[in-house]
Amino acid sequence: MSDIYERIAGLKKERNAVILAHFYQPAEIYKIADFVGDSLDLSKKAKASDADVIVFCGVYFMAESAKILSPEKKVFIPNKLAGCPMADMIHPYDVKKLRAAHPNAVVVTYVNSSAEVKAESDICCTSSNAVRLVKGLKEKEIIFIPDKNLGGYVASQVSEKTFYFFDGYCPTHNRITIENINRAKHAYPEAELLVHPETPIEVAAAADFVGSTSEIIAYVTNSEKNEFIIGTEEGILTKLKSDNPHKIFHMAAGNFICPNMKKITLADVLYTLETMDDEVILSEKIIEKAANSLERMIKA
Ligand code: 13P
Ligand code: SF4
Repeated sequence: MSDIYERIAGLKKERNAVILAHFYQPAEIYKIADFVGDSLDLSKKAKASDADVIVFCGVYFMAESAKILSPEKKVFIPNKLAGCPMADMIHPYDVKKLRAAHPNAVVVTYVNSSAEVKAESDICCTSSNAVRLVKGLKEKEIIFIPDKNLGGYVASQVSEKTFYFFDGYCPTHNRITIENINRAKHAYPEAELLVHPETPIEVAAAADFVGSTSEIIAYVTNSEKNEFIIGTEEGILTKLKSDNPHKIFHMAAGNFICPNMKKITLADVLYTLETMDDEVILSEKIIEKAANSLERMIKA
């Protein structure tokens, strides 16, 4: 029996499939991916790809976004149990309630949300474009969902607007405390602290740099500094270390892991490519409505 990497490569060709992976995926998934990126880059790749099949190694909302942006393609996530708990915290009904309470506000939805919630929204954002995009909106009132931490960070950068939040958060990033940060800074006084905006607001406020996964990677690569404390999911270390083999990285806290991002295995990918079972399916109505919010983000 041939090596699993060869079998995946062979089937990928046969199916005209592209494998997209998020930076938090396990190192073995990086090896089979055609492209590894952050949420924004991955959604753009999904839209631009001329493959017939997209195999998405990430969490469920990412595969849904790929389907929304490329409805003519077959989209698969190799393990359907790989969800995002933050995306699951908010229901479309919550969006309707917030709209009714704030009729003049525009609904800005972090892509870490279900297709149904995107369908109820005006525009999507990711952690790399949220500040720029909110600044550019003509509305003065913003309903920012579902992440209260990213929302709070955006509000701190866009003081001229009024924000209404939903009480959602990422369980992996939200558990980082200012005590974790103080301990890490004390242990590594020469290091710069780089965090994802899904961390609590006081953690982001203590950082030298706040950014999405790809922004953190770019910051490290362009920095003259040699040592960094990393405040995001530890899968990012695979990319940071391979791009910067001589730089030193410390995690801001132990066990900084998103269990859902670790669910997809090589065996799952092989099984998906072999069977083409269990495609991501969304109704035409949801695709059309959610595409408006996602396309508006991509064009902004
Ligand atoms: P990025 O958009 O920064 O890649 O983040 C995605 C994510 O799920 C962070 O938890
Ligand atoms: Fe969701 Fe957090 Fe995991 Fe990102 S790290 S996929 S926000 S649970």
